[in-house]
Amino acid sequence: MTNKLIAPSVLAADFANLQRDVEMINTSDADWFHIDIMDGVFVPNISFGMPVLRDIAKHAKKTIDVHLMIVDPDRYIQTFADLGSDILTVHYEACTHLHRTLQAIKSTGMKAGVALNPHTSIQLLEDVIQDIDMVCIMSVNPGFGGQSFIENTYNKVIALKELITKKGASTLIEIDGGVTNKNAKQLVEAGADVLVAGSYVFKSSDPITTIKDLKTLIN
Ligand code: DX5
Ligand code: ZN
Repeated sequence: MTNKLIAPSVLAADFANLQRDVEMINTSDADWFHIDIMDGVFVPNISFGMPVLRDIAKHAKKTIDVHLMIVDPDRYIQTFADLGSDILTVHYEACTHLHRTLQAIKSTGMKAGVALNPHTSIQLLEDVIQDIDMVCIMSVNPGFGGQSFIENTYNKVIALKELITKKGASTLIEIDGGVTNKNAKQLVEAGADVLVAGSYVFKSSDPITTIKDLKTLIN
């Protein structure tokens, strides 16, 4: 894949001006909306849930990439499909029967993603990589925006790219957490396809330009 993608994380948006921020992403060079759903159990934070996603989806004109940081995600697969998710990512650490969960996601027509916590080895995906549309490598511990990037992520991206190539899979590699203009280029050089960026985009004085510059930097 040559076109490397930017997925702004709506977690860092201004929720009192959510439509404005959704329209900003629509207008910008961003490729996807990244939506973080946290349940306060799998991660020590609660973000937002179905009604907020429903209203984002009403206005969003780009791919909706939903990152579930919840226990027992199987319970909500159909709900997220009905809400308009295009890609549904579950955590490896939250799925006892990951293969079954992936099939259930794909049976709704959504793409299936698997996220790995920083301590979770790429090699655990060896027997299931061909069934995964996207692997999300967490480059921070999930739960909060605005944390610093974990440097070991580069090694994980390289290992994952090798695994994907070895297995002849077409899985995309997404990086989530602490992405800025300082690490973006090295991440795509290591093999990343999609970069999530929350604080770096929304805390900047000119998010449209920040997205444009990041997109130019990686393509
Ligand atoms: C963290 C979330 C991330 C977060 C990224 O648990 O999964 O998507 O919003 O935010 P930044 O880019 O601020 O690290
Ligand atoms: Zn995320």
